[in-house]
Amino acid sequence: IDELLAGPVAGKRVFVRADLNVPLSGTTITDDGRIRAVLPTVKALADAGARVVVASHLGRPKGAPDPVFSLAPAAARLGELLGADVAFATDTVGESAEATVTGLADGQVAVLENLRFNAGETSKDDAERAAFADRLAGLADVYVGDGFGAVHRKHASVFDLPARLPHYAGHLIATEVGVLKKLTEDVKRPYVVALGGAKVSDKLAVIDQLLGKADRILIGGGMAYTFLKAQGYEIGSSLLQEDQLPAVAEYLERAEKTGVELVLPVDAVVSSAFPDLKAKAPTDSTSVAADAIPADQMGLDIGPETRKLYASKIADAATVFWNGPMGVFEHPDFAEGTKAVAQALLDSEAFTVVGGGDSAAAVRILGFDENAFGHISTGGGASLEYLEGKTLPGLAALED
Ligand code: 3PG
Repeated sequence: IDELLAGPVAGKRVFVRADLNVPLSGTTITDDGRIRAVLPTVKALADAGARVVVASHLGRPKGAPDPVFSLAPAAARLGELLGADVAFATDTVGESAEATVTGLADGQVAVLENLRFNAGETSKDDAERAAFADRLAGLADVYVGDGFGAVHRKHASVFDLPARLPHYAGHLIATEVGVLKKLTEDVKRPYVVALGGAKVSDKLAVIDQLLGKADRILIGGGMAYTFLKAQGYEIGSSLLQEDQLPAVAEYLERAEKTGVELVLPVDAVVSSAFPDLKAKAPTDSTSVAADAIPADQMGLDIGPETRKLYASKIADAATVFWNGPMGVFEHPDFAEGTKAVAQALLDSEAFTVVGGGDSAAAVRILGFDENAFGHISTGGGASLEYLEGKTLPGLAALED
């Protein structure tokens, strides 16, 4: 983007593909981190006199307008953060979008409605995506890719559109890639990775890669129970992905052979039922050893001994990457594990990277100072796929 800003941009229509996919409770944004993350790019373009057209997806609507997934709240928040009026188009490539973009004065910003209200955005059919990208291209003179959270998606606005316009990477993408490079090229050791989240299937590929790169991998979250089961423990009614047991068993074996420390919880906070996250009423939670989870109980967080263990494993790290909450942090009875890992990152001298929409939101929702971490990535799937060594369509499209 510096290259773009070095030349004349006043009066140019600049399409900024952002990731404004923020968590919402009704129409209230519960974490605006992703909107704040794109501000430097939007501000720089607006200050230079560009006519800025911001576009994004939100949630997973089914290729047709659905008010639940409207970007209107995100557009309003962007306006508040910019301290300027932001125009909002109620469609993506229709009359409203055309009129809104035509009506922009130099230095003004508009947001289009959710790109995924058009089936062409996410289509697997190249021609369908191309047709949508052609129409989006008609709205702009220049493309700036800055939606890091979506660069792993081969979608029209991420992959096909940049090929149709002069294209640049925005500040956020440049920062995110710079940080992730530090984790993949010449990483400072000990390199400790803490992985949580519900599903082990989402993390298999990254664990596979990290087994050759990290010194220690700490496992938490719902996926820890599939590991404990693979180790031969009974896990009661905890989350289990039975079909992943062979892969997990192979990882445990490989870690043993290669000398990578693959660390599993030694205890768990359990309860007889999944908690009500809205009412947040107190539960019947107790802590038990990892090999003594009662048959009628489910593990919902790492236990107190595991918290201490993981903190000690993080304490002497030089680099830490953390992706995924350690428990159901949205309920206070099961938030301590996630808090303990966040605190351990802050207490260590390491370069710390928090990756993932969920863990980034957890850090902010639990009240930690986000600026105290080395870097909080706006990309969950995107940062994992980068670490897996995959080619990310949205980055490839900007590089060519
Ligand atoms: C994310 O939340 O990780 C990104 O916004 C991508 O969203 P998606 O998984 O629905 O493509």
